[in-house]
Amino acid sequence: MQTVNRIDPLRDAVSALRRDGKVALVPTMGALHEGHLTLVREARKRAAHVVASIFVNPRQFGAGEDLDAYPRQLAADSALLAAEGASLLWAPDAAAMYPAGYATNISVSGVSEGLCGAARPGHFDGVATVVCKLFNQVGPDLALFGEKDWQQLAVIRRMARDLDLFRPTVDDIIGVETVREADGLAMSSRNAYLTAEQRAAAPALPRAMRAAIAAIAAGAPVAEALVTLEQALLSGGFASVDYAMLCDADSLAPLAERGAGSARLLVAARIGRARLIDNMAA
Ligand code: PAJ
Repeated sequence: MQTVNRIDPLRDAVSALRRDGKVALVPTMGALHEGHLTLVREARKRAAHVVASIFVNPRQFGAGEDLDAYPRQLAADSALLAAEGASLLWAPDAAAMYPAGYATNISVSGVSEGLCGAARPGHFDGVATVVCKLFNQVGPDLALFGEKDWQQLAVIRRMARDLDLFRPTVDDIIGVETVREADGLAMSSRNAYLTAEQRAAAPALPRAMRAAIAAIAAGAPVAEALVTLEQALLSGGFASVDYAMLCDADSLAPLAERGAGSARLLVAARIGRARLIDNMAA
């Protein structure tokens, strides 16, 4: 596996890979776990070569968020990616990504605005901007993202559709199911912030979500099921709940009733230093 951190060698390396067939991109911020590696494995099935990127994107962190604390472990990540058969690691530094004079922002309205967008102003502008740049830098045939970040995936698809992105097209943006620990907790780089006690409490999140989904399916009013969910989190060791909402799976519009279309339960809650998010089909 080759590692590049400047744009010119990146372009040369991708052109060389392209001779063998399709190139898939897996964007990450590093601190890789089995969730990220599942994206790489899925990418390998679909393309001749996998390019992984690692860039802790300052523009998607708000003031007072965990940009400085975010785990950075490039050497270990690089070994994991090589072991999974990635062909190229794109690891730009902040100056390569946002050189002096950088002035452009991509803002996707609607789907960015509720949920994590409401709790983290500017976050999805930062995500859309960096993902658009990564797409233009690498020019992959396809790109893979985790359903763990359901709203992020919706924002990226909306951007690709609205801007007629060409490499990849919106149809070549692939969502991959959330990878979980044995106790149900969704894998996340931020789980590293949890103390042993908080880590033991954290599976209350997926457990309470499954209970809410079952209650709604059995006919409980949505608002009631969501209140029960929040109470279960607060009594189960979480400090606060940013949101717990039933939404249309595509538009992310909040649903007061389950209805006939496809619905998604999305939750963000804080425990210790971590803000954990999860979502499930409902
Ligand atoms: P990061 O949090 O490192 O995640 C990189 C990719 O891995 C995302 O597509 C995310 O949804 C996916 N992922 C994380 N945990 C997962 C899990 N448990 N199961 C399946 N997939 C999982 O998301 C970002 O970085 C950034 O916002 C990025 C898109 C790279 C832009 O900076």
